[in-house]
Parts: sequence; structure tokens; C-alpha cells
Amino acid sequence: MEKIAIASDHAGRELKEDIKEFLSSIGVEFMDLGVDNDNSVDYPDYGILVAERVSKGEVPRGILVCGTGIGMSILANKFLNVRAALVSDVYTARMAKEHNNANILVIGGRIVGKGLAREMIRTWIEARFEGGRHQKRLDKISAVEKKDK
Ligand code: RB5
Repeated sequence: MEKIAIASDHAGRELKEDIKEFLSSIGVEFMDLGVDNDNSVDYPDYGILVAERVSKGEVPRGILVCGTGIGMSILANKFLNVRAALVSDVYTARMAKEHNNANILVIGGRIVGKGLAREMIRTWIEARFEGGRHQKRLDKISAVEKKDK
């Protein structure tokens, strides 16, 4: 598994730190793109750092955390080739990969506990995209994305 880019705002930082510990414990490499303190920041400034890298193919996957996960997911899905999924249960985390081939997982640091976040991330990492009819559907989304450019 190649490196995962990870970032949060202040509201997601505590969970981000736990996620880093978890990724280390299962041997998954990551790059932490901030934030590195608890001062209030604007989540787009940090989400962009991950979404841009995933969009350009510099990293295959990213994880973003803000308070609810909503702002980070709205932001990330503005980027070409990004499929960001906001998840708060393990089933959705699995489907996010199997059906949607989500390349960014977004979690609400004020919503989801550490144990659940770990399980969702493990599940998303281990799941495999099913392709087939799901690829056809993603192609339709890509067509919309390209039309807007
Ligand atoms: C910050 O207070 C909060 O608005 C942000 O973390 C996030 O929840 C935005 O969607």
C-alpha cells in the first residue's frame, strides 16, 4: 500500500493524531499535511493539500478530518478525479471503496469516536473496488466533471 495523505483542521486534529498512531500500528505509511496545533484554522487550507495530491495522482489515497466532515468533503469533491466519501459507519466505509472507489475518506472528528474511526479506516483500506457496473457509474460522474471544466 502506498502512502496516505492526511490532514485536518483544529476540530479534527485530535482524531487525526489517533489515526496516525493507528496507521503506524498497521504498517501503513502516511504524510501528515497539518494542522499541527489547536489554533482555529480554515479547513479548506488543509483539505486542499490532500485533495490536490490525490487529484494529481501524487498519492493514491487521502484521509481528511474536520468537525463534522461536511466541509472537507464538499471541498475535496471539487477536485478532478477525487471521490471523497464522508463516513460514520463501517458498512458505508466498505461500500465507499467497493462501489464508489472512494480515494479520500472523510471523518467528522466531533461525530465519530476513535475506535469507530479506526475500524472504518481499516475496512476502507482492505476493501477492493468491484468495478463492472460500478465503473460504468463512475465514468458517468467523470463525464460530468469534465463537462464542467
Ligand atoms: C469548525 O468549527 C467546523 O466548522 C469545521 O471543522 C467543519 O465541521 C466544517 O464543516
